[in-house]
Amino acid sequence: MSALSFENRVAIVTGAGGGLGREHALLLASRGAQVVVNDLGGAVDGSGSDLGPAARVAKEINDAGGVAVADGNSVSSPEGGEAIVQRAIDEWGRIDIVINNAGILRDKTFQSMTQDLLDPVIDVHLKGAFYVTRPAWVKMREQRYGRIVNTASASGILGNFGQSNYGAAKMGLVGLTRVLAAEGAKYGIRANVIAPVARTRMTEDLLGPLADKVRPELVAPIVAWLCHEDCPVTGEIYSAGGGRIARYFIGLTRGYYNPTLTLEDVRDHFGQIRDEADYLVPGGVPEEFAELARVFREHDA
Ligand code: NAI
Repeated sequence: MSALSFENRVAIVTGAGGGLGREHALLLASRGAQVVVNDLGGAVDGSGSDLGPAARVAKEINDAGGVAVADGNSVSSPEGGEAIVQRAIDEWGRIDIVINNAGILRDKTFQSMTQDLLDPVIDVHLKGAFYVTRPAWVKMREQRYGRIVNTASASGILGNFGQSNYGAAKMGLVGLTRVLAAEGAKYGIRANVIAPVARTRMTEDLLGPLADKVRPELVAPIVAWLCHEDCPVTGEIYSAGGGRIARYFIGLTRGYYNPTLTLEDVRDHFGQIRDEADYLVPGGVPEEFAELARVFREHDA
């Protein structure tokens, strides 16, 4: 089988000055993509800024014969997002791929979750994806082509102690991605989510015995595949860590139906309501409505 190429594709990778983003940028560039290496260059909690990390990764790519530019804007404002996308347009005239990867942590239990811990985390992860993707979307629609990968986390999908701000932002990205998938379909735009596990500065103390195996370069292949023109899926979620790739999906149980439903009916049939046998995986709201209509028809027949 032939190797996959990103020749003539223009990509933005946010937070690409280190960790996972750097690996995504290196892989895409090694396959011919022209890459905007964006990174604010602050600390894990989002404080500070430094063009150094983005500049180093862009240099690494250019030294290896690839094509990249460094960008130090923050994703966390509309102006920052505009500037990052404009950089790609100014350099190469188009934008094919957006990988929203920039992230910070401000962990605290919900009891102690103050505004200064909540707002920056929502601003970088969730609103940041809006701010970068929105201007890119306008171009992608014109081009009738685009690939978007948003970086969620098991902390949001499954829930994790001490991360209400981060978990909410990350699960918010799942909702955003599924709407982008629905709205982008007729324009050739596909959007998917990854939930990575990797040893980076963000996680260095958290991984325990997994730490040696979960090298960040092992997440980049699924991200690059989701960015490739041959990849058929949209609105899906992939878990990636240490070379294991799997799919998360949103399942709906067959449930219980009663047109005269009472409170006690719910109590008495709660097992059936929760029963995971024969679950459905609705691809969108129309599919859930179709299932509801089917249940009504079956009952009325
Ligand atoms: P990292 O800290 O090495 O990378 C995050 C990068 O984002 C940093 O280089 C940082 O400077 C940059 N950044 C932060 N705020 C920014 C802003 N406002 N504008 C532009 N750049 C900004 O950590 P890692 O692990 O590589 O994280 C990458 C993404 O993966 C994050 O979204 C993180 O939440 C997510 N993730 C990572 C997991 C892991 O196991 N490493 C697990 C689940 C999710």
